[in-house]
Amino acid sequence: MHGPFRGGWRSVLHDGMMESLELLETECRQCQRCPLAQGRTQVVFARGNPSAQLLLIGEAPGAEEDRLGLPFVGRSGQLLDHLLAEAGLDRDRDLYIVNGIKCRPPQNRRPTHVEMAACRPWLERQIALVDPAMILLVGATALQAVLGVKGGITRLRGQWRPGEGLLLAGRALMPLLHPSYLLRNASEAEGSPRWHTRADLAAVRRRLDAAEKAQACSA
Ligand code: URA
Repeated sequence: MHGPFRGGWRSVLHDGMMESLELLETECRQCQRCPLAQGRTQVVFARGNPSAQLLLIGEAPGAEEDRLGLPFVGRSGQLLDHLLAEAGLDRDRDLYIVNGIKCRPPQNRRPTHVEMAACRPWLERQIALVDPAMILLVGATALQAVLGVKGGITRLRGQWRPGEGLLLAGRALMPLLHPSYLLRNASEAEGSPRWHTRADLAAVRRRLDAAEKAQACSA
């Protein structure tokens, strides 16, 4: 069991009703809580394995994500997939992937505080339902949306932080550089952003291995 909600269930109590990811997705797809609803093609809810121990939280959908309805399927997503695969992480088996913001902001601008606040309940309910042992916060906006920490991603990346509060207690969180930043910084040299991200993802793989081993021993 990771969070305080459950062990092995795919449903949690929300507003007095048992909720599942499927029901949450149906509800989320109709969201009109902020003006981004007007400009979207569709809500981008999630992709990957809802039973994974790793939850990856990105920023917001771009044009390709808005078109296809899945997070991280554009150029950033391709680089992310490549780096995950290099670390031995299978994006469909080892991770559940979501964004802090579910609808595409116009011209891919940064989401506003109002949009982040409006969207946060969807993210919180996804976290509660997926109940991940580890959460990867990809980019400064995810860091801000989940931990309320503004700035400092280059300093904080790669460090595990213990989750606090009812939703995050019992989970380990790691900020990572955003793949769109890595696309703009293509150096592979030692000490470069890509080099650090490879090291960070290797640390994630090691922690996942340890968690899987512990789970196998207790089974
Ligand atoms: N960037 C993100 O943060 N999320 C996506 O889904 C795509 C690009």
